[in-house]
Amino acid sequence: MKNILVTGGAGFIGANFVLYMLDKYPDYTIVVYDKLTYAGNLDNLRDVENDPRYAFVQGDICDAAAVEKAIKAHEIDTIINFAAETHVDRSIMNPDAFVQTSVYGTYVLLEAAKSLGLERYHQISTDEVYGHIPAGYSSKEGDLLKPRSPYAASKASADLMVNAYFVTYGLPVTITRGSNNIGPYQYPEKVVPLFSTNALDEEQLPVYGDGRQTREYQYVVDHCEAIDLVLHEGVLGETYNIGTGEDIENLRMVEILLETLNMPHDLILHVEDRAGHDRRYSLDIGKIKALGWNPRHTGEEAIVKTALWYKDNEWWWRKIKSGEFRAYYEAQYGKRLRDAGEE
Ligand code: NAD
Ligand code: TYD
Repeated sequence: MKNILVTGGAGFIGANFVLYMLDKYPDYTIVVYDKLTYAGNLDNLRDVENDPRYAFVQGDICDAAAVEKAIKAHEIDTIINFAAETHVDRSIMNPDAFVQTSVYGTYVLLEAAKSLGLERYHQISTDEVYGHIPAGYSSKEGDLLKPRSPYAASKASADLMVNAYFVTYGLPVTITRGSNNIGPYQYPEKVVPLFSTNALDEEQLPVYGDGRQTREYQYVVDHCEAIDLVLHEGVLGETYNIGTGEDIENLRMVEILLETLNMPHDLILHVEDRAGHDRRYSLDIGKIKALGWNPRHTGEEAIVKTALWYKDNEWWWRKIKSGEFRAYYEAQYGKRLRDAGEE
């Protein structure tokens, strides 16, 4: 593994992963292959743009010819696929691009890895493929996939195709399933950056339903370390959960965030719930721990660190929130906020 194609590397986790890998491995080269959808942002990669070990190619993972060209031109031996449409609420409004990218796009990458004889294909997946998990249980890698949103279903489909390429063609694959990542460069549609930036602007925080849903909020660099470990020590054909083992209620996450930013609790506004909202995800992380990984941050530490990053990096999010985002915000929240009696 030396020349890595990071698809979706201009997004949140992909960019953090590129920064992490270039810092850790002086002899690796990384090519980011990214369509630059609304969520892709070259500002995320500003720190490495002049690094000779880094290159950027704008392209769609559904475009087989462009994928093959990039792999050949850069003598790629490994693909790590972060590319996806990633926001559950957008998948409810319009699932089409989710299916295109995660289902067809993943197939295109797998086919390229097979036909060009690559050393490794790694798929970035999510805890959402297991669906809602009742209290007292944590998902194991071999559990049935029961995705419930169009986003989760598109990601589960991709995992199944990755597994099919391992079994049928012997393609050297691995899969990791992360929990809710937070940290620098996350598009402010996801809850922690949305609420941090809204709070900084003294705007209301639209909490879905009763706010008693739980998530495992994980610091993104911890996730990157685990992916690195699986790339180097993981068993081919295997899947590894990467979480924190710690449930945090959304209302508790909001409290930590508001206390960190020193903003008042009356910014919280309960609004109409998300359709089909999964109340709980929970990962059993015994398998990745046995490989030698442990999270470095608790959920609370991750939330504090993330909220402070948004406080200190307005240069990054202000231009996003004033662009395409405004139309999205109105479509997603306008009626909900009015119905909930926003002042
Ligand atoms: P993101 O939305 O911030 O970034 C996605 C990136 O993929 C963007 O740069 C976008 O331009 C690119 N992209 C989208 N469609 C593409 C296409 N057709 N061709 C090429 N590039 C395309 O997402 P993220 O939060 O960084 O998530 C990255 C991966 O991690 C996704 O596969 C997601 O399902 C998975 N994941 C995310 C989380 C999380 O909490 N954010 C948790 C677990 C797993
Ligand atoms: P999100 O960041 O969209 O991640 P996911 O749904 O993929 O886990 O949401 C995290 C949690 O926060 C989830 O329970 C939904 C909730 N949420 C709100 O209460 N209000 C919001 O405006 C958003 C975006 C999410």
